[in-house]
Amino acid sequence: MSKDNNIVFAYWVPNVSGGLVVSQIEQRTDWSYDYNVRLAQTAEKAGFDYALTQIRFTAGYNAENQHESVSFSHGILAKTERLKVIAAILPGPWKPALAAKQLATIDHLSNGRIAINVVSGWFRGEFDAIGEEWPEHDERYARSEEFIRSLKGVWTQDNFSFDGKYYQFKDYTLSPKPVQKPHIEIFQGGSSRAARDMASRVSDWYFTNGNTPEELKKQIDDIREKAKANNHQVKIGVNAFVIARDTEEEAQAVLQEIIDKAHVEAVNAFGDATREAGAASVEGEGNWAKSTFEDLVQYNDGFRTNLIGTPQQIAERIVELKKVGVDLILSGFLHFIEEVEYFGEKVLPLVRELEAEQQLQLQAKSA
Ligand SMILES: Cc1cc2nc3c(=O)[nH]c(=O)nc-3n(C[C@H](O)[C@H](O)[C@H](O)COP(=O)(O)O)c2cc1C
Repeated sequence: MSKDNNIVFAYWVPNVSGGLVVSQIEQRTDWSYDYNVRLAQTAEKAGFDYALTQIRFTAGYNAENQHESVSFSHGILAKTERLKVIAAILPGPWKPALAAKQLATIDHLSNGRIAINVVSGWFRGEFDAIGEEWPEHDERYARSEEFIRSLKGVWTQDNFSFDGKYYQFKDYTLSPKPVQKPHIEIFQGGSSRAARDMASRVSDWYFTNGNTPEELKKQIDDIREKAKANNHQVKIGVNAFVIARDTEEEAQAVLQEIIDKAHVEAVNAFGDATREAGAASVEGEGNWAKSTFEDLVQYNDGFRTNLIGTPQQIAERIVELKKVGVDLILSGFLHFIEEVEYFGEKVLPLVRELEAEQQLQLQAKSA
């Protein structure tokens, strides 16, 4: 286990208003550009490798204002030096030719630090509002897979041709190509069977909602087995809402307050909208298919991952997640800037210590 095997850390960019929990608890998190620049600079100093922006066209879960993901990602890249920023893109509103070109340019402007999260859509009201078609659940993934194959083709080949159901290219050459080789990193979000199968064929990274190590292991084993059969490699990122405090009691009290002050109407409306996601897939699994009211207060089931407690408890749980195959923790916080700083000071060094201990144990075993 080398340093290259260290688990990596990402955070959710709060580019939509309301923070990362649908609650009326006080949140010193802000969706403005200024706040986000300070946050990104703090995060890269604290040891975070990635930041993930969100794409929303209309207000879901009380998120009244939403900055657009690609332009916002570029704004953050312009003010940072090391952080990679992952821009969320929805096939439908975006076409692959435009996305490929736009991202290739940002890759040049940022010295190879843009990445993309292809999200397949769960919020029908949003698609209806902007006049976009709403294909069935698994069909949305069929479209996303074509989208990703198109991006890869355009980014890596000259005279690229593609004849898909949703997208066609004829002898197209993009110039300049992106800086990153073989191409800009491709993440995807979603946990249904269609999402997993797509990850096992085309994506570099699979992002999933928060969950327990046991449940995550089932997903990861499934994906890795299929990916192996496809001769494809995919890494795994899991969402977690982190509440790190000096004592466990303090951390649990914060969680309780978030839930007690949940915005009940908004959480229920969000719950209704998610029925078009995982639960609408053929097998009825996937994101939010089994989420309770409490889970939905953090809109990607981030409490379930249980990174809530003291720095030591959290570091130990992160290493447990790594053991079941997680490569990246996608974190959300209540008061982003101060908590990202605390995480970098108190939690991250413990994770690195535990990883180094693990490495020594493995070396001793193999000696
Ligand atoms: C980490 C993560 C980030 C996501 N970001 C967005 C986003 O910014 N915008 C969006 O519309 N959907 C987003 N999604 C939703 C997914 O793309 C997908 O529609 C949803 O998870 C349902 O997928 P499933 O039915 O395959 O489980 C995200 C999902 C995950 C796990």
